[in-house]
Amino acid sequence: MSNGLIWILGLSGLLILGIIAYWQLVIAEGTYLGQWAVTRLYDLTANRYDAIKQFDAGMEAIFLGRPLAEALKSIPAPLVCDVGTGTARLPLALLEQPSFQGKIVGLDASRDMLKVAAQKTNGYNNRLTLIWQNAAHLPFPDDVFDAVTCLEMTEFTPNPAKQLAEAVRVLRTGGILLTTRRRGFDAQMLPGRVFNPKRLTTLLGKLGIINVQIQAWQVDYDLVWGQRDGHSSAGVRPISEILLCPRCSTLSLVKDNQVIYCEQCSARYPIRDRIIELR
Ligand SMILES: C[S@@+](CC[C@H](N)C(=O)[O-])C[C@H]1O[C@@H](n2cnc3c(N)ncnc32)[C@H](O)[C@@H]1O
Repeated sequence: MSNGLIWILGLSGLLILGIIAYWQLVIAEGTYLGQWAVTRLYDLTANRYDAIKQFDAGMEAIFLGRPLAEALKSIPAPLVCDVGTGTARLPLALLEQPSFQGKIVGLDASRDMLKVAAQKTNGYNNRLTLIWQNAAHLPFPDDVFDAVTCLEMTEFTPNPAKQLAEAVRVLRTGGILLTTRRRGFDAQMLPGRVFNPKRLTTLLGKLGIINVQIQAWQVDYDLVWGQRDGHSSAGVRPISEILLCPRCSTLSLVKDNQVIYCEQCSARYPIRDRIIELR
């Protein structure tokens, strides 16, 4: 084999490897490599995440904060769960709405994303609880939140349909669901992780979500609004009344200074940098 051919083959191999690495690490953000890879990538980019995303507070208010506060306005102090909260984009957009007087639980698998979230939301200590936990099993009983939000997250989980079902499980009947749908070129690079609008509407319908509305939002995401069918009483509950112990799945957690411990199984979970470490 000539030297020239060896060079061409070597360079082609490198190019193909580069394209695969770009696809897996940049577009798919580690999702096909497993939850560990996804979390590690977010840990590594946590401090640069907001700069990369270039959030604009005005746009966040127009598309997220105001419509969600409006949807919850009939509830005096709503309780919201933001699944895959990242650096607290949704909590901030909502907490900055004067008409929203409720509380939010923000949960994420990346400890470093939560650390940034805690720094950014220092002024809202008593209204935002941050939990370090994989969202595959949310540490709450069924039917507890007045709204569940889950932005730019399900496509990075191994089973987006199951993740949506888990989000809906903790949403009370009558409650608001706000999630996203990846669209555009990137969506086609995520086989098995993204639903087309019709499939997503059908899936949400099977989960008991009605009034599904898919709204164009960013270049690569739609916003997806819906409501859980039925009615039930709403309102804010103390976190101690809704937080399940991940080890024994009972409502037996008690806060003692900087630790939460379980009266049932004696598990202990530290609270550091304002983050409840259930992992
Ligand atoms: C693209 S970011 C979106 C963050 C935030 N929702 C936003 O809109 O800015 C995806 C987030 O989902 C989190 N995530 C991915 N898989 C998760 C899982 N299984 N459980 C909890 N969080 C997860 C990541 O750690 C990351 O913070």
